[in-house]
Amino acid sequence: MKLTIVGGGSTYTPELVDGIARLRDRLPVTELVLVDPVADRLALVGGLAARIMAAQGHPAPVRWTSDLKDGVEGAGAVLLQLRIGGQAARQRDETWPLECGCVGQETTGAGGLAKALRTVPVVLDIAEQVRQHAAPDAWIIDFTNPVGIVTRALLDAGHRAVGLCNVAIGFQRRFAAGAGVAPERVALDHFGLNHLTWIRGVRIDGEEVLPQLLEQRLDELAEEIELPSPLLRRLGAIPSYYLRYYYQHDAVVQEQRGAETRGAAVAAMERQLLAMYADPALDHKPELLAQRGGAFYSEAAVNLLASLVADTGDVQVANVRNNGTMPFLGDDAVIEVPAVIGAGGAVPLPLAPVPARYAGLIAHASAYEELALDAALHGGRDRVFDALLTHPLVGQYDQAEKLTDLLLRENKDYLEWI
Ligand code: G6P
Ligand code: MN
Repeated sequence: MKLTIVGGGSTYTPELVDGIARLRDRLPVTELVLVDPVADRLALVGGLAARIMAAQGHPAPVRWTSDLKDGVEGAGAVLLQLRIGGQAARQRDETWPLECGCVGQETTGAGGLAKALRTVPVVLDIAEQVRQHAAPDAWIIDFTNPVGIVTRALLDAGHRAVGLCNVAIGFQRRFAAGAGVAPERVALDHFGLNHLTWIRGVRIDGEEVLPQLLEQRLDELAEEIELPSPLLRRLGAIPSYYLRYYYQHDAVVQEQRGAETRGAAVAAMERQLLAMYADPALDHKPELLAQRGGAFYSEAAVNLLASLVADTGDVQVANVRNNGTMPFLGDDAVIEVPAVIGAGGAVPLPLAPVPARYAGLIAHASAYEELALDAALHGGRDRVFDALLTHPLVGQYDQAEKLTDLLLRENKDYLEWI
């Protein structure tokens, strides 16, 4: 199978290629193509990708191109991992919302809306090229944020797409390592929307171990997701670290004011990484890459793709249509839950009823996502305002008005309808 990575010039690519090379028994890749508009960076990353594959004895040729049509031609799967506007746009998303007392984050809050508006039209154009030129049954795996909104856009447009995030696999691998068992033996009861999820069950070989995990490792877990341990104890569940932007919103805003943005830190890391990638002797992913948020992304992507292609019917956490799984959401909503992965796609497992303390927030954020997608597709100040007013972290008229102006000002180069 020809596998194409759009956004292949990303510094993340060696992480992905390492997974493709290591897990070659699971996923039969016969050609790997990296596509990216930034040619010099693509050549640097492409060179390293080829060396990683060769060093691990993977026979597939690796090539790179800035021509999307050429890149996706005949592909059996296309992975989207792009960031419109790069780290510079991300840094702006992380900064201007603070002016209104709203969290500065690339996928949550007003910054996340800005990212959705910049990204959705571009992803839909790319997907159209995939529809026209890739293999008829090609899968699109979307790791491009905001994954929930982008996946919904892809599905609404009729594409064969599944959304992917590494949060769930990160927890699964962590619990497996703690228990000294293979990750496949750990099943998570993980539910919500992308970057708005909780884990309320951890089963090892079918046996529930979350209560004892919370008892024995509460402080460690709380520290990792940067939330107070009494909150975890009270919930009896483990929120993803993105819930910090909700449960501790104002404290995070205080912290972020005047602090270096994550985008700036990542930009500095990327400069170092690219210098390393330029070394022709380097033939593996450097340690420094582990400091990025995408740990286990490659394994999540390879597992998902392998199961779609080989029709395995195993369970993995994915971003899929709700279709009644959470009855308080519309069927078209995209949710992040364990799903059975096979040739027909990802089908959510039935989910135990979701308690009100989670359902309220999920429904609220899902309504925002619906309006965010509407704004991304059709543009216009009013739609941007509607989405912001509906976001659970905004909600107030004055803030929504001001954030709308800021968002439009900061993104005018990316939104053709302004
Ligand atoms: C996690 C999230 C991704 C996000 C990444 C950011 O992996 O699941 O959706 O893109 O973190 O990591 P970074 O190193 O760019 O801050
Ligand atoms: Mn994610």
